Amino acid sequence: MRAVRVKEFDRPEQVVIEEVPPRQAAPGEVVVSVKACGVNFLDALTVKGNYQTKPPLPFTPGAEVAGVIREVGAGVRALSVGMRVMAVTGFGGWAEEAAVPESRVFALPEAMDFTTAAGFPIAYGTSHHALKDRARLEPGETLLVLGAAGGVGLTAVELGKIMGARVIACASSEEKLALCREYGADALINYATSDLRERIRELTGGKGVDVVYDPVGGPYAEPAVRALGFQGRYLVIGFASGAIPSIPLNLVLLKITSIVGVFWGAYAQARPKHNAQNLAQLLAWYGEGRLRPHVSGTFPLASYREALDVVMNRNARGKVVMVLD
Ligand SMILES: NC(=O)c1ccc[n+]([C@@H]2O[C@H](COP(=O)([O-])OP(=O)(O)OC[C@H]3O[C@@H](n4cnc5c(N)ncnc54)[C@H](OP(=O)(O)O)[C@@H]3O)[C@@H](O)[C@H]2O)c1
Repeated sequence: MRAVRVKEFDRPEQVVIEEVPPRQAAPGEVVVSVKACGVNFLDALTVKGNYQTKPPLPFTPGAEVAGVIREVGAGVRALSVGMRVMAVTGFGGWAEEAAVPESRVFALPEAMDFTTAAGFPIAYGTSHHALKDRARLEPGETLLVLGAAGGVGLTAVELGKIMGARVIACASSEEKLALCREYGADALINYATSDLRERIRELTGGKGVDVVYDPVGGPYAEPAVRALGFQGRYLVIGFASGAIPSIPLNLVLLKITSIVGVFWGAYAQARPKHNAQNLAQLLAWYGEGRLRPHVSGTFPLASYREALDVVMNRNARGKVVMVLD
């Protein structure tokens, strides 16, 4: 079977597609015949060797897939050959087959196609866990989302509305903000052309926001922390800008606020039952038509370089997905 292989970190010419032996299901695993795979910012970091987990070389990147179960390992209970599923692979997803532990594989609703499913679990799983479990977002609260038109950002806008919050979406262009408006944002801030802290003050009548969802970091983090209101929560999601911010802790003390870390993948592994309940809730909302996953670009597997460039060059709107033959 064909797989993308990274032979050296941060050397684009050392990322190739090649024939590798078929996957086999170890006990507790299934092998998924991959129909589509998500392209995430974290995949780009992994290929460069900059992600928090560095797999041994050579390896196949690809953190999430959708497809059909081809083989079931010993001890697998709830899954069977032929089931349509989505799976969180961590690595190994950019291939015709992926072997995945049962706890990270979820049956697809009939109405969900493979392209949609391949971009679903990481973005929605992260934002739902962040807003519900980590921030404990309440109806009527104000949620500020940075990088709001990106993969995780757009799902935070959508889920914030479902949870009853007033959502302020922030992005770097009017076109990205128009997409956020379509997904329910109540107010918009173009942080490339306006002063973030000042605009938040105007939009909240000086009160500040209750929750900040930040997948971008860099120059926006400190103004966003300063714009938190009484008992506000700042969610550390990621650092797509490339810079990990340093925050003066006196700001946290003065306003009685919290800085809250979010690492969905690690949480899902530590609490698989709770994570499965969260995903079941998300799939139920999808079934009710309350979630509209946005896939802005699809590529064949052979175009993995172009797909990665879209994500790295700030051009993704919602999700980017590779679709296999
Ligand atoms: N903590 C977790 O559990 C978890 C889970 C999933 C992802 N993440 C992290 O969340 C971050 C976003 O992931 P994603 O897949 O949503 O990425 P994405 O679709 O590329 O979105 C990232 C957004 O960041 C903004 N951005 C600002 N500077 C950027 C730059 N120099 N390069 C690229 N984007 C830039 C862009 O919005 P504007 O142009 O509007 O600024 C872009 O839409 C990543 O750091 C990822 O590792 C964390």
